[in-house]
Amino acid sequence: MQHPARFQTLPAYAFPRLRSLLDVHAPGGDVIHMTIGDPRHAPPDFVLDEIAAHVGAFANYPPNDGTPVLRQSITAWLKRRYGVEVCAETQVLPLNGTREGLFNAAVALCPEEKSGKVPVVLTPNPFYQVYAVAALAMAAQPHYVPATAATGFLPDYTALPPEVLDRVAVAYICSPSNPQGAVADAEYWRSLLELAERHDFRVFADECYSEVYRGTPPPGAMEVAQKMGADPERLLIFHSLSKRSNLAGLRSGFVAGGKQTIAALKQLRNYAGAPLPVPLQAVAARAWADEAHVDASRARYVRKYEMADRIFANIPGCGAPQAGFFLWLPVEDGEAAALKLWQTTGVRVLPGAYLSRDTDAGNPGKKFIRVAMVADEDEVAEGLTQIRDCLFKE
Ligand SMILES: Cc1ncc(COP(=O)(O)O)c(C=O)c1O
Repeated sequence: MQHPARFQTLPAYAFPRLRSLLDVHAPGGDVIHMTIGDPRHAPPDFVLDEIAAHVGAFANYPPNDGTPVLRQSITAWLKRRYGVEVCAETQVLPLNGTREGLFNAAVALCPEEKSGKVPVVLTPNPFYQVYAVAALAMAAQPHYVPATAATGFLPDYTALPPEVLDRVAVAYICSPSNPQGAVADAEYWRSLLELAERHDFRVFADECYSEVYRGTPPPGAMEVAQKMGADPERLLIFHSLSKRSNLAGLRSGFVAGGKQTIAALKQLRNYAGAPLPVPLQAVAARAWADEAHVDASRARYVRKYEMADRIFANIPGCGAPQAGFFLWLPVEDGEAAALKLWQTTGVRVLPGAYLSRDTDAGNPGKKFIRVAMVADEDEVAEGLTQIRDCLFKE
């Protein structure tokens, strides 16, 4: 039986690849997991109450477009957080986690051709892997744009040649970024939206980590878009409860954007979507309406950033980021470092190359490891200390 050729070039997924690298060797000590971005702070305490209060609704098919209560809770949050006006009826769509939304948005919106050629989908490199798979699924051409120290760890799409930009249908962008924790400022968003207008493409802004930060809250793409009067149909923003509310298992996020664009997403979802069960939508509605649990979780991440800054003080390039919960640490070779760390200490981290692609300019993740600071403070402190002592001490 034949498989579609367009997925044959995909490398093995990061985590099976990591298992093949590490699990053929014994750990050097007690195992500490710092690989997956699976939040481990407690979820909010109202989860069970909301499920119990709506348990009867498991009997029914959920509304495809999300419950009105959830949509309103989301738009009220967008107003509080970013000061933006979004219509709960027409401009927001609850998702079964943002991963499926980021994928399905390309299915619904990426055209067959752009400027008479195969369309290009821009993705930062390194990046959250669904962007590239969405591009390949649409038979579009993923274009990997380095997001390195030289460009503030965000991709510089404005530096691409016009012949590439004219073929772009979709530009994925992640801020705060996974893995580097870089934050796009208002000026970055403004120039990206202007570029999208000039070259007629859409921006898919993955803002899953928007609530995990220190200092000033990261500005949002839609906030900037509304202030500059950008065409609302050019931009989709994606938000998630996975990181904000430690509810990765709830599978709940949303996408917001222009009316026609959201209508196109709803149309596809009518046929092929998997809406979130109503009791879980009730949990989500409550979570978007509550900031206390988010503030408490953020305070813990801030303590971990401070801990990382202390442990890696004076080691160049190793401080904690402004946002997100990963450290993106420079090493000689990411795979060799992950293996050495595992065999010496039992700490598991991810080689950066597993999150990035080889390009003509090299692989921008090759000389990095990604370290997830999701466990409790003591375990994170122990893991970080072992990483420092094993990889960064002479
Ligand atoms: C950058 C980024 N985007 C999207 C997601 C997907 O999140 P979810 O599907 O849980 O909302 C993740 C999850 O790790 C992520 O790191």
